[in-house]
Amino acid sequence: MEVLHIGSDHAGYQLKMLLVGELEKLGWKINDHGSHSRESCDYPLVAHPLCNAIAQDGSMGILICGTGIGMSIAANRHPEIRAALCTTELHARLARRHNDANVLCLGARITGDELALAITVAFLESKFEGGRHQRRIDEINTAK
Ligand code: RB5
Repeated sequence: MEVLHIGSDHAGYQLKMLLVGELEKLGWKINDHGSHSRESCDYPLVAHPLCNAIAQDGSMGILICGTGIGMSIAANRHPEIRAALCTTELHARLARRHNDANVLCLGARITGDELALAITVAFLESKFEGGRHQRRIDEINTAK
């Protein structure tokens, strides 16, 4: 069973719990990095350990905050992470196919539950196409 890391701040907590339930039904083994309640917490303190775990095991993750913006900024500080903030299923498919995104960021105050689930499934089902897209990713990693 493939491991999927998930994390949120307080603003993303309810959506995170909904996604955990749905993804477990789909057969994913979920590693939940918190938050574990609606109590206010700081999104970088969830983003960084989750990204370190992905850098270690090479799996994928989902990070949720109010807008998805803070989580994506924090996650993309990690050289091994390509985090994509997605608001449509097309964003999610192309983030995997073209950008080999390994972290999906969602904004729980922006994107409704049903769409967020559809975006998540599209992200997890899509595969990186390689080729010219790999060259561009290599260029991201070398550019200063
Ligand atoms: C929390 O109020 C909010 O700022 C946070 O969830 C996120 O949207 C930050 O980018």
